[in-house]
Amino acid sequence: MQSSPNQLSRCNDVRNGINVRVFANAVDANTCVATEMAALIRQRAQDGKACVLGLATGSTPVGVYRELIRMHRDEGLSLQNVVTFNLDEYFPIQPDAPQSYVRFMNEHLFDFVDIDRKNIHIPDGTHPLDSVAADCCEYEKQIADAGGIDIQILGIGRTGHIGFNEPGSGRNGLTRLVKLNSLTRNDAAAAFGGLEKVPKSAITMGVKTILSARKIRLLAFGEHKASIVEQAVCGSVSDAVPATFLQGHQDVQFLLDEAAAEKLVSNQNESGDSC
Ligand code: F6R
Repeated sequence: MQSSPNQLSRCNDVRNGINVRVFANAVDANTCVATEMAALIRQRAQDGKACVLGLATGSTPVGVYRELIRMHRDEGLSLQNVVTFNLDEYFPIQPDAPQSYVRFMNEHLFDFVDIDRKNIHIPDGTHPLDSVAADCCEYEKQIADAGGIDIQILGIGRTGHIGFNEPGSGRNGLTRLVKLNSLTRNDAAAAFGGLEKVPKSAITMGVKTILSARKIRLLAFGEHKASIVEQAVCGSVSDAVPATFLQGHQDVQFLLDEAAAEKLVSNQNESGDSC
């Protein structure tokens, strides 16, 4: 018998305002998030309203998108009332480049569901540098005009970045052009076929944009994320680890596999309290 999404997490704990949920594996965590998204999409459709999703790229959310596609194919989930805003995009980059986030989203979600293409928003990596600031203001306006983001999906970088808000990014940042951190560029080097080919900049929603979402669901899998997850949950709130700003959000969950949660467990004191 399949477990219901709420039964999937083995541990469910609130630490520094973050609801930390640990799952036996990434598949269970992905199912949990996709099920929550699908329920909201259906609820909004019933009410004749749009559902606004904030989406991430990278390896982490791929399983969520796979599950949404499965629900669309097998369970009649329609995404016709869905409006999406992606967190970020490399700059400069063409949409058909293998590493572009436009291409990523098409290949991992949009090409397989019935979303209306005009409802898809991804920061534009093709415009000349001198029009980027205006594009970023327009992106913020589009989010506001859509009524704000209902659920924002996040991964976390090893620098503690959310979106491409690298260390040093403050709590009040909005969508803007940023320089990529060298660790982040190194992590992307294989995908670009060498460090020198990785763009030095990106356009990203700011921390404030992300914190404006009504619900935030951060996914992290694997032992290489354990240390930064521990810092994000247990560290003092600071722009040195931008993910710590999530500690102040009213509805934030970290959905982790056991490997990514490992340091949180070892950070428990004898009474079982953490951080
Ligand atoms: C991607 C994004 C980044 C990634 C992060 C983790 O849109 O905003 O913050 O979520 O770099 O990447 P993965 O999932 O590849 O480990």
